[in-house]
Amino acid sequence: MKKLALTTFITSVMLAGSVFAAGDVLHPKQMQWPFDGVFGTFDKPAIQRGMQVYKEVCAACHGLTRVPFRKLSEIGFSEAEIKTLAAEYTFTDGPNDDGDMFDRPGRPSDKFPSPYLNEKQGRAVNNGAYPPDLSLIIKARPDGANYVYSLLTGYKDAPKGMGMADGQHYNPYMAGGKIAMAAPIQDDQVEYQDGTAATQDQIARDVVNFLQWAAEPEMEVRKSMGIKVMLFLFVFTVLFYVAKKRIWRDVH
Ligand code: HEC
Repeated sequence: MKKLALTTFITSVMLAGSVFAAGDVLHPKQMQWPFDGVFGTFDKPAIQRGMQVYKEVCAACHGLTRVPFRKLSEIGFSEAEIKTLAAEYTFTDGPNDDGDMFDRPGRPSDKFPSPYLNEKQGRAVNNGAYPPDLSLIIKARPDGANYVYSLLTGYKDAPKGMGMADGQHYNPYMAGGKIAMAAPIQDDQVEYQDGTAATQDQIARDVVNFLQWAAEPEMEVRKSMGIKVMLFLFVFTVLFYVAKKRIWRDVH
């Protein structure tokens, strides 16, 4: 009897699990990224293109408020380019000696601003949905890089019978299948300065490379340090093994 109860319990737990798994969320497409794996590195030209995509497309609705302009030097932008880019933005600073706030052009130490004054304003202009800051989005979602790529390239017509409210779009990679962001990327949405063909796939890849770097700029250092530590441990294991053999050679 006990055994039966246990089996029933296990089966129901497994069933509950499979019901969740069979929900309407698709698992992200499994892509290959230059930053994957222990030897993963950043593809700087891709990240630079991704920055262009963020700036020209996503920045209209999403902030990137943890990334200072000067950090772009790590992905190959010159100091002059960074100064020019920062100066394209306006920041409110102050107070000045008269106690007033004032506007000034951005400096390299400023961060990519949010397009909104606050979250309420963000929701008000987006049908009630808030476009999250993208600085850490790759880390904030499971399988982040694959997820964001799949989301950007995964828009489809809603299945028959699925009620979509105004301003909602069908995307099988979004939990619940409904997202308040219209497909932001089409072919030729941007014109790349390096001549790369701007297909939807390419643009999505590039912006994911950029967002991965934004979320974890120290990744390359972390990985190369990991490899060095493993090498160090390996060499010392050999040394200590040889030393142990020598020390205990005459002891029987
Ligand atoms: C016209 C405004 C707009 C633009 C442009 C836009 N987004 Fe969004 N985005 C939104 C809104 C609104 C949401 C919130 C959707 C929701 O919660 O249903 C969102 C949500 C997201 C999410 C989070 C989805 C989740 O899992 O919660 C990601 C990732 C995202 N956008 C990436 C991007 C990228 C990358 C770009 C540029 C290529 C971009 N967006 C351009 C409005 C925009």
